[in-house]
Amino acid sequence: MYAAFRSIGAYVPERILSNEDLTKMVDTTDEWITKRTGIKERRIAAKNETTSDMAVKAAELAIERSGLAKSDIDMIVMATISPDYFNMPSTATVVAHKMGLDKVPAFDISAACTGFVYILGIAKAFIESGMKKNILIVGSEKMSAITDYTDRGTCILFGDGAGAAVISATDNKDEAILDLHIAADGSLGDFLMTPDGGTGNPHQNELKSEASFIQMKGNETFKIAVRTLTKDVVQILADNNLESDDIAHFVPHQANYRIIKAVGDALKMREDQVVLTVHKYGNTSGASIPMAINDLYEEGGLKAGEMMLLDAFGGGLTWGSALVPFSPFSK
Ligand code: UT7
Repeated sequence: MYAAFRSIGAYVPERILSNEDLTKMVDTTDEWITKRTGIKERRIAAKNETTSDMAVKAAELAIERSGLAKSDIDMIVMATISPDYFNMPSTATVVAHKMGLDKVPAFDISAACTGFVYILGIAKAFIESGMKKNILIVGSEKMSAITDYTDRGTCILFGDGAGAAVISATDNKDEAILDLHIAADGSLGDFLMTPDGGTGNPHQNELKSEASFIQMKGNETFKIAVRTLTKDVVQILADNNLESDDIAHFVPHQANYRIIKAVGDALKMREDQVVLTVHKYGNTSGASIPMAINDLYEEGGLKAGEMMLLDAFGGGLTWGSALVPFSPFSK
């Protein structure tokens, strides 16, 4: 049995936070943000809009587009670092309940910006082992809830949104996810972290709000992201005897245009192969790759059988890549 990427869906909140808006909040300029990151604006969820609310909207679209019934879904796996509740219940179980899918196993994983590649790997493994048939995977993030809007080094980067996909069993090898790498290096965990609240740094009596927000060694993360991703994507292509020309769509995690450009250039990707959404959504962590695939799909740019190369890098540190043909159920 093989695992096929059947469908995609996404949701973006209405409110736009532009670079101009940020200049009124921290000492920055549109020019600096555009030049250093490629970001022009990002979406911000409404105050009462949760990570699970966004996830449900993306998930329902992905299921509808797959042609399956909701009741065909036999597992839900979510990637998020901005869960509805820290510890429990998992956001995946909240999503399952809101969708009327209380009887299916559902759980979250934490792999930050690499989350979507990790859950794609989990879905692939469960399907190839014959344990499950139709798995809903969702990346959803309310990054605005864990972002410090007084820190210009991070608040210009992050945005909110959700993306989802249905991964199904197939006996047709041509439809199968071809390869997937995931990796981690915990020795660099302090490059990107939210230090407060866990058992490693329990809540003190006084609320240490700044420690609940993302802290990042931006420049160090940037350099290691370019180096690591370049090596990883070159390796996954070589392992599968593929050239850049065999890739219809390079869909990188959308953290920074300069990282995407450096890795794309190392692969000699043409501009029309590289899927870019960082200018309009910023970095939506585990949601960024499915949101980008969804934009490509909705613009009519993603056709059955086309090969996607995904790559991601983020907190942990974690990274990964995948070779994924778009394999909708044939009508
Ligand atoms: O998705 C998970 C992985 N995360 C990433 O991949 C993010 C990786 N990092 C980045 O994208 C970039 O490092 C940043 C965009 C965060 C920063 O860009 P940079 O080119 O690495 O800048 P820097 O941190 O080296 O800072 C350069 C200068 C500093 O000033 P001095 O010390 O040279 O005077 C910063 O204080 O830019 C200053 N700076 C800013 N200036 C205006 C930092 N943030 C801002 C800002 N506006 N928002």
